[in-house]
Amino acid sequence: MPIAHWPSLHGESFQGVRTLVTGGAGFIGSHITEALIELGAYVTVLDDLSGGDPANFDTFKADADDRLRFVQGSILDQTVVNKTIEGCAYVFHQAALGSVPGSVDQPRKYHDVNVTGTVNVLEAARAAGVQRVMFAASAAAYGDSEVVPKVETMEVTPKSPYAANKVACESLLRAYANSYDIDAVSLRYFNVFGPRQNANSAYAAVIAAFAKALFANEHPKIYGDGEQSRDFIFIDNIVHANLLAARCESSLNGEVINIACGQRISVNDLATHMAAMTARPHLTAEHLDIRVGDVKHSLADVTKAKALLGYEPVVDFETGLKPTVEWYEAALVG
Ligand SMILES: NC(=O)c1ccc[n+]([C@@H]2O[C@H](COP(=O)([O-])OP(=O)(O)OC[C@H]3O[C@@H](n4cnc5c(N)ncnc54)[C@H](O)[C@@H]3O)[C@@H](O)[C@H]2O)c1
Repeated sequence: MPIAHWPSLHGESFQGVRTLVTGGAGFIGSHITEALIELGAYVTVLDDLSGGDPANFDTFKADADDRLRFVQGSILDQTVVNKTIEGCAYVFHQAALGSVPGSVDQPRKYHDVNVTGTVNVLEAARAAGVQRVMFAASAAAYGDSEVVPKVETMEVTPKSPYAANKVACESLLRAYANSYDIDAVSLRYFNVFGPRQNANSAYAAVIAAFAKALFANEHPKIYGDGEQSRDFIFIDNIVHANLLAARCESSLNGEVINIACGQRISVNDLATHMAAMTARPHLTAEHLDIRVGDVKHSLADVTKAKALLGYEPVVDFETGLKPTVEWYEAALVG
């Protein structure tokens, strides 16, 4: 399923290494898990299945033998987090509730899972002597600032409880790295896409939502004039950044690092392109009123990722879009 060839990129670095992926049954976590399995690591996945699905392991679980352990449980349960983290060198902390509008409706629930859950992971990690925690941060930290490209030194302006949760966790990771004998890093993901991303949520990401509409022979819906642009990043690049961060020889000290492609694509271009790819060019986009809080342009400066991690995207947008659309066709049409 991955396009990137992990052994050529990461060699023997993870052979026999014990790791924990929280939220590993979800979209991003399952791809990190898959790469680690391919690289010979032992992976424990801790996921409460509130959003994930163990079917996400189907394409690679046969290759894992006894190296993949799935634990259904919550990061809110300190005992289960402590147990699953035992003996791990690295933690890839992906578990979270991820809907911006959902966080506006249920701010306390989001705080509990996203912030208290992260404290539980950090507490378990320091007690267990984990080397480094990689945290799934978000470009939502930049709020609706119109300044592009987004550089990590910019002020954070969270506009939703979800964004505030992510910023709070970035601070916690930095504080833990500075206070205890544990290293940590926050990777600020931009607009991630790829196979296994949920198309069925009311707040599905745009590529998933367009695929769902097109395969149902409906017109994709665009909020606003569609000239807004996004820095879309194929999943393999997110996985690559996480693996590079784990391998980094110098201390990352709780640094916050943008992970994106540094390229912007307009939502109109995306809709036209996907309609052509699915052989439905007549399904032109339907434009609705702009949504409050949507930013016009989002584009990352990835200089810091390159300097600290040696990160460069390994799969470009076009190359990543093809298997993504094919995956939605198989999943939605059969
Ligand atoms: N997809 C994106 O574009 C994007 C962008 C920025 C940041 N992120 C972050 O990346 C991470 C992964 O996102 P994703 O897109 O794969 O979402 P996802 O919903 O597919 O994955 C999240 C996983 O966390 C699990 N989970 C939720 N609450 C839990 C709990 N209490 N205990 C254990 N597991 C729990 C869910 O069941 C799910 O499997 C999240 O932290 C998200 O905020 C995603």
